[in-house]
Amino acid sequence: MLQKMQIEGGYPLFGEINISGAKNLALPAIVTTLLTDNEITLTNVPNLSDVKSLLELLEYLGCYINSDLNNNKLKLKTANISSTEAPYDFVRKMRASILVLGPMVTRFGRASVSFPGGCAIGVRSIDLHIRTLQLLGAEITIDNGFIKAYAPNGLTGNDITFPIVTVTGTENSIMAAVLARGITRLINAAIEPEVEELCILLNTMGAKITGQGTSVITIEGVKKLHGTVFNIMPDRIEAGTYAIAAAITHGKLLLKNCIYKHLEIFFNTLQLNGITIEKTSNGVIIENNNEKINPIDISTAPYPGFATDLQAQYMALMTISNGISVIKENLFENRLMHVAELTRMGADIKVNGNTAIVKGVQNLKGAQVMATDLRASASLVLAGLAAKGTTVVNRLYHLDRGYENIDKKLQQCGAQVNRITV
Ligand code: EPU
Repeated sequence: MLQKMQIEGGYPLFGEINISGAKNLALPAIVTTLLTDNEITLTNVPNLSDVKSLLELLEYLGCYINSDLNNNKLKLKTANISSTEAPYDFVRKMRASILVLGPMVTRFGRASVSFPGGCAIGVRSIDLHIRTLQLLGAEITIDNGFIKAYAPNGLTGNDITFPIVTVTGTENSIMAAVLARGITRLINAAIEPEVEELCILLNTMGAKITGQGTSVITIEGVKKLHGTVFNIMPDRIEAGTYAIAAAITHGKLLLKNCIYKHLEIFFNTLQLNGITIEKTSNGVIIENNNEKINPIDISTAPYPGFATDLQAQYMALMTISNGISVIKENLFENRLMHVAELTRMGADIKVNGNTAIVKGVQNLKGAQVMATDLRASASLVLAGLAAKGTTVVNRLYHLDRGYENIDKKLQQCGAQVNRITV
């Protein structure tokens, strides 16, 4: 069944939105079950289709899953596994499935994961995932569309320098190194809060990781990890998306649980746009009581830079700014697909390579639009909230990959949005 979202634009959003657990932490956190035979309990897990896809893969591999996602809780246990092969159908649905490669090869001595191939936002190579496992002693072959990793005698620590920052590449390497013999140093590691939290989670399981949150992470391998109970932190990208919902509709929202410091550069940008941002004891208040939104240029970068995962949503805001803004996407080569759809809504955007030049217009106009990927869909919903008239966002399944209860959260703040099943 296909679903669409119908949006009547022009209603300012007022109220509170509870920020859910972070998708991009929940995914690697779930995978840690492959590293121990004890139980892992995770709380504040977002109820998302990406989470469900990963659980299906783990179930296929033979992990025991007690899922209470309606209450955001998961219990996972992997005493043993029945397969070490992640087939194409799982990996195709969600690239983050590649995260099972490191944990399986380090604990079970072998792993095979279907090659993810390209995806909507770019080629997204996994060469660095492969190279780091090789440097830890795994023998890797590419066979029949699968990456096959063997390490029958286990992995051995090493110094690994990443030529570029990779989030899941760093996570895969950390999870492989925690059970390797000796010491691994990851240099130019990702410093995203999700990577830091994953290390904290692994340390509660008995891992010996230091330097998380900096670009040099040191991992002293241990023989065994044990179970734990761990709470998933709030999703900074979901929070940023709702911040723009407040800004673009000239409303006021309290984003409950939002961690300000995870979005510092983003919030600084919004302040330059003329939006009021206030840190409170339980979250962040976003208010736009200016008629005009200042155009401010941005350029995406790894953390703490302006997140690529907020670029599309920010572009929606810039389509109704009071001038010209330049938006440069530096992480992915094909992450400007929302431009064509925003243009259908009356936006004035020119693309030159990985740069979009956005000239603010007085008003966006409702239209039928097509979601192409997760964050692009979010940008179309935001544009629809601000547009005059009715917008219909098709291919809603993209949105459900990363936004828990988005229609309900928006409705409770006064948005006129409806999910239609066709
Ligand atoms: N790259 C390589 N080789 C590799 C790995 C990455 O060339 O082996 C390149 C990529 O092609 C890209 C750049 O490095 O150009 C950065 O990619 P990265 O590996 O950091 O991305 P990722 O780990 O695949 C995670 C998030 C993405 C987010 C990016 C960047 C998860 C599950 N996914 O992806 O989230 O955009 O980091 O911050 O953590 C989303 O939530 O919508 C999303 C796409």
